[in-house]
Formats: sequence, C-alpha cells, structure tokens
Amino acid sequence: MNERDSEAVAAQLVAKGYSLAVDLDSADVVLLNTCSVRDGAEQKAIHKMEAVAGRMRKTRPEVVLGFLGCMAQSRGGELIDQLPDVDLVIGTQKFHRTADYVDDLLQGRRGKIIDTDEEQGSEATIREHLLIGNAPKKSVTAFVSIMQGCNQFCTFCIVPYTRGRERSRGIADIVDECRELAAAGVKEITLLGQIVNSYGKREIGIVDGKSAFVQLVEAVHAVDGIERIRFTSPHPKGYGDDLVAAYSRLPKLVEHAHLPVQSGSDRMLRLMHRGYSRARFIELVGKLRKAAPEIGIGTDIIVGFPGETEDDLEQTLSLCQEIEFDNAFVFKYSKRRDTPASEMPGQIQEGEIEARHAIVLKQIDEIRGRRFQKHLGSEMEILIEGPSRRNPERMEGRSRCNKIIIIDNGKCHAGQILPVQITSATRTTLYGTPVLERRN
Ligand code: 5AD
Ligand code: SF4
Repeated sequence: MNERDSEAVAAQLVAKGYSLAVDLDSADVVLLNTCSVRDGAEQKAIHKMEAVAGRMRKTRPEVVLGFLGCMAQSRGGELIDQLPDVDLVIGTQKFHRTADYVDDLLQGRRGKIIDTDEEQGSEATIREHLLIGNAPKKSVTAFVSIMQGCNQFCTFCIVPYTRGRERSRGIADIVDECRELAAAGVKEITLLGQIVNSYGKREIGIVDGKSAFVQLVEAVHAVDGIERIRFTSPHPKGYGDDLVAAYSRLPKLVEHAHLPVQSGSDRMLRLMHRGYSRARFIELVGKLRKAAPEIGIGTDIIVGFPGETEDDLEQTLSLCQEIEFDNAFVFKYSKRRDTPASEMPGQIQEGEIEARHAIVLKQIDEIRGRRFQKHLGSEMEILIEGPSRRNPERMEGRSRCNKIIIIDNGKCHAGQILPVQITSATRTTLYGTPVLERRN
C-alpha cells in the first residue's frame, strides 16, 4: 500500500512538471514515505532521514526534506522537533497536497509545513500512476487503491489510528482507472485495501446477493485488456461465500488469496480481536480450495503477542502444518503506542520473541520447500513481468497462484501470458520452460 501511495505522489509531482531524480545527490526534494506497523520500520525511516539530512544540509541547504504517511500522521510536529532539518510532514489523508506544499517551500512562501488533518473524499485521491502519460516507468502490473482506513481495531495494530476509518471509492471511478491502466499496457491489476472484503459496505451494500466487493471485482473483470485480477488483503472475518464462488465464476480472478491468520490459537485470536476462530479459518481455506483447487494461500503471522504461551505457539505451528501455506510473512510482535495490546499483561522479552520467530520461520520455509517440490513437472500459466532481477539474461513471470517463475527465454516479452512447465526448484525460486517451445 505504501509503495502505491508513493507512486501516486510521484506521479502527481511529475504531472506538475517535476521529474524523478536519478539519485539522492541530484534531488531538490527528498520525501520519505513511512510505515508505522512495526517499530523497526519507524526507526529505519528516522535513521534514513538523519543520514539524508546529514549529507544534504552541508552542501545543499535549500533541499526540501519531508516525511509522508503513517509515521507523519501519528507523530506530526514531533518529527520536526526531533529532526529540525525536516521541512514537511504530510499525513495519510493529504498525499494529494504534496505538490502544492513542495511548491510553497521551494518558492519560500512558507517555512515548515505540517498537515495531518482528516479530509473528506481523500480515499479517491490516490489514482495517478507513473506509467500513464509521459510514462517514466512501464509495467504490465499495477496496484489500484480501492479504499482507505480500517474499522477492525485488532488490539496490536496502529493502522486504524494512522489511516482513519474505512472509506471506499466508487465503482465507476475505480473502473475508469483500470481502463486507463489497460490502455497503458497493464495486464494485471491488484486491488488494494486494509480489508478489501469490507469494500463499500456502507456506501454500496449488497445488490442481488452480492457484496459490494464482488460487484467491484465483476466490474473490473469486464474491462478489456485486463487479463488478471488480484486483491490484497481480505480479512478471514466476513469472507463471504459470494467471494469464494467468484473464484470458480470469474476466469480473470487468479487463484491466489493472501489471508492473514496471525495466530493458530483461539485464545490469542480473541485477545487480538480478530473476529474468527481457528476452526472458521480452516473452514474458509477448505471452501477456497474446493472452489479453486490450485489456489495459492499466503498469510501473515505474529509471534510473541502479549500472553502467548508455548502452547499457543504450538497451535500456530500446527495450523501451519495443517493448512500448508504457500507463503507466510512472520512478524515479531512490536508494541505500538496507544494500542490495547501495549497495555496487556504478559509482554514477552525481545530475545524470546526472536527465538519463537526463528522457530516459525524455519517451519514456514520447510513447508514452502515441500510445496515447491510438488510443483515440479506441473504446468502453470505465467504473466511475464520483465527480465529477472537476479539475472537479466532470463525473464521472470508470475503464476496465477502468485509464484515467481524464472524462464530461460530471450524471445518472450513483458506482458505475454504463456504456459510453462516447472523444471526445477530451489528453496526460494521456481524455474520453468515455456511449453510451446518444448513441444516444437
Ligand atoms: N507487530 C507485529 N506485526 C504487526 N502487524 C500489524 N501490527 C503489528 C504489530 N504491532 C502485521 C500483521 C499484519 C501485517 C500487515 O503486519 O501480521 O497482517
Ligand atoms: Fe490492522 Fe487488523 Fe485493520 Fe489489518 S484488520 S489493518 S491488522 S486493525
């Protein structure tokens, strides 16, 4: 989501006549978009800004330095008190004001600017893309932000405080954006929101037994040129049967679901205020696998939530074994200020959290390796995204079930959709050969 917000800000600046700097030293404006989900991300942003300011201020004092996003929202002016070199602090509902503020600062019309106010309609302002128009960046995939905010208030999470309450864009507006992207050569759209299956609950509601989110997916499905649709993230609570059925009904909806579970222990899930049980989660994955047998299932897991016992951790490990996730992001619990979990008894020492993190990671790696081996010899349809990041001689594509596959073929081009056979697998990467070529 942050990547998408940063891109939209950059696109807005480019539309106003700015251009992207090739490196830090040639930049006149340096903006850091920030994440507050874990303390590590905040510390990283602060250290980065200190390093940038230390380097720039000596030789080019006129450079504008700014923080955007979640940390800007939650810390506001505090950030300038801590780092007086910072000129600009823009919260999560004000990304679209960036160009005006940068203009003001560059022309010396204003000193420091801090804007963390709420703004009605701000959810519809993240729509510009760098790959449209004077495209400094070409891509066959694109993210589209469909909503902002979250009403779930999981007890560990800062997002409802930094991103505000849930607000959804209209279907027609989102579809227009997808059409523009298709015209620019985009083949795959990923719809983004904190809880995408809560999309339009209040604004649009259920029509003909279909939730607003399923109505949206259908509308995007009808856009010519868009060949694949993904979304992230749905929440297991309120994941309706209409959305499960969409997988077998809508061919452009690819077989992949990122379904954050956080823990396998019912006691933890209750304390986390997740709104579902272990059994309900397993039932949902069962339904999805029935609707789309090839579906790739990813998840997020938190270890070391306050009060987590060895037995709770065991429950998480056993859930991972039972589900066999294709991929999982495993996070060390990070205490966030003002969240209910930060006040809960049983806070766990950092060293212990690290040990538990390593145990879960190891298991997730083993499971991923096992699943990779199962794919050997199978055929998958991939969308070629471009040259492989590690070896530009090869091309890299993504399967419908969200696996990255490297192929040895200089002849194919970005945007092509083609079947490949999986020929080998390492612990982290799958390799394949285009099927047509092999048959020739
Ligand atoms: N500590 C650790 N991980 C967190 N996440 C959210 N808040 C925290 C926190 N305080 C994780 C969750 C969520 C993902 C985006 O970040 O797993 O799904
Ligand atoms: Fe945070 Fe929970 Fe909302 Fe996800 S659903 S953004 S974890 S509060």
